[in-house]
Amino acid sequence: MLISDPVHDLEDGFEFMHVPTHLAIIMDGNGRWARQRNLPRIAGHRRGVRVVRDVVQECHRLGVRFLTLYAFSSENWGRPDDEVSGLMDLLASYLKSELELMLKNRISLRVIGELDRLPKNVRMMLEETVEKTSDNRDMVLTLALSYGARNELVRAMRRMAGLVQAGMLAPGEVTEDLVDNLLDTRDMPDPDLLIRTSGEMRVSNFLLWQLAYAEMVFTPVLWPDFDRGELHRCLNEFSQRERRFGLTDDQVRNGMTADRRVND
Ligand code: IPE
Ligand code: IPE
Ligand code: MG
Repeated sequence: MLISDPVHDLEDGFEFMHVPTHLAIIMDGNGRWARQRNLPRIAGHRRGVRVVRDVVQECHRLGVRFLTLYAFSSENWGRPDDEVSGLMDLLASYLKSELELMLKNRISLRVIGELDRLPKNVRMMLEETVEKTSDNRDMVLTLALSYGARNELVRAMRRMAGLVQAGMLAPGEVTEDLVDNLLDTRDMPDPDLLIRTSGEMRVSNFLLWQLAYAEMVFTPVLWPDFDRGELHRCLNEFSQRERRFGLTDDQVRNGMTADRRVND
């Protein structure tokens, strides 16, 4: 299926003209979902993992080529120890249980973030899953783990400074493409759409560089309650947006495309 093909076969009647090539999601609201039920926060995270499974499958079915999920932020390390270790355990069991499905659906796994901070067993499982799925071409599923956009930018700048110090890069050779290539998301297109659940309207240190021209859809639904229907509603909203990239609406309707790389 071509990405630009309309998707017609949705049982709830939604029909999209454009499915985002790259969809990024801030999965938020697990703790509140649990609190509403007098359950421990980890119960919300556990339910959240089930939603991840459904959303990955549905995005794959709809032809999304890149799906990036914010699963654990740099700032989330500051949560209580039992919540952090519970989340790490959930991540390890998710990786174990999903490998088969990733292979079946030809989904390759990628990870972005400061991975050195993750427990060794989780790091090893991630490396193994990335390696085993690396030839899959249907969809790239990226997990943002121990991820903070400012940290990602600092790591990129350190690499850039190293290149300059080694005499391999002159200041005039620093371009937007070069920055792209030094980020964890190298070789990925920028997200077309960012969805955040749970009613919060902020980006919480997620993909600050890459979201420059993303459309954003905020839904009040808590992540554990997010389902295919709500995903379709968000995609439908995206498909009705006119993306102008700084041009006028007339220019866009006449098929002109913006050169985003203004400084190159
Ligand atoms: C998102 O849900 C999951 C992670 C950040 C790991 P939260 O745990 O932030 O849920 P709320 O925002 O407290 O409801
Ligand atoms: C953002 O959610 C991080 C993830 C979803 C992994 P948070 O719940 O940590 O963000 P804030 O604290 O509301 O900004
Ligand atoms: Mg939250």
